[in-house]
Amino acid sequence: MNAKIIAVANQKGGVAKTTSVRNMAFSLGEQGKKVLALDFDPQSNLTSSFADENTKITTTIAEIMYKAMDEEQLPYPKEYIYTHGNVDFIPSSIHLSVVEANLRMEMGSEKLLANILEPLRKDYDYILIDTNPSLGPLTINALSAADSVIIPINPEYYATMGLTDLTKTILKIRKRINPKIQFEGILLTMCDMQTNLHKEVCEEVTEAYKNGMKIFKVHIPRSIRVGEANRYGMSIVDFDRKSKAGIAYNEVAKELIMNGN
Ligand SMILES: Nc1ncnc2c1ncn2[C@@H]1O[C@H](COP(=O)(O)OP(=O)(O)O)[C@@H](O)[C@H]1O
Ligand SMILES: [Mg+2]
Repeated sequence: MNAKIIAVANQKGGVAKTTSVRNMAFSLGEQGKKVLALDFDPQSNLTSSFADENTKITTTIAEIMYKAMDEEQLPYPKEYIYTHGNVDFIPSSIHLSVVEANLRMEMGSEKLLANILEPLRKDYDYILIDTNPSLGPLTINALSAADSVIIPINPEYYATMGLTDLTKTILKIRKRINPKIQFEGILLTMCDMQTNLHKEVCEEVTEAYKNGMKIFKVHIPRSIRVGEANRYGMSIVDFDRKSKAGIAYNEVAKELIMNGN
């Protein structure tokens, strides 16, 4: 195996980054892929959704990043990789925000995460990174480690605002740090195709980016079931197999597999 590393990024909060990582991980797993999901957000929402009462978390990505910063030997992966159903995950914690503050003062620290993930590639088909809502050093580390980036967009409000900053950052990272990073695509989340606003935004995004960037064919519908599933720490497909959102995330996983490496 030689995992494809995909960062899910958008400096806006509430666009379904975490929900998308959670559900893509599950759906890729269902389709026979070996998946590792990394929570790289100090808010640790992905960790909460994966960790049940049986999971005793002792080591998180925060400690691993500290060690990497101090040039210390990293622990064995089995000490910081946990399992939930068909997905392996690396948890986060609030301490990751201290890491972020330290990264700002650390020289040449953009590739620290890339160096941590590189030896794990051989064990997985996909490594998905959930990022925090900023374009700070954590997201830069995630993008520097990634082969491609998925940008979730919530068509609700000012969807395309900020997208230029994000694409500029990605292009800079490609030029200066990580020449291999590709745009995997824009993923429209929380769509309500019944309303004209959503239709318009979806068309606007498609129009604006159709020459420069791939947009996932499938759009994720807004569904109350997604929030419910999140609350119970479940993927939407697991929670309600027939829900439209669950079916849509399965389609996203299929598109990803079709895209290849
Ligand atoms: N398709 C959807 N339909 C309805 N609610 C959704 C959907 N996707 C995500 N949500 C909800 O939107 C909120 C933000 O999602 P989240 O994945 O945490 O975003 P982010 O990680 O970008 O901040 C959460 O409360 C989540 O349950
Ligand atoms: Mg999140």
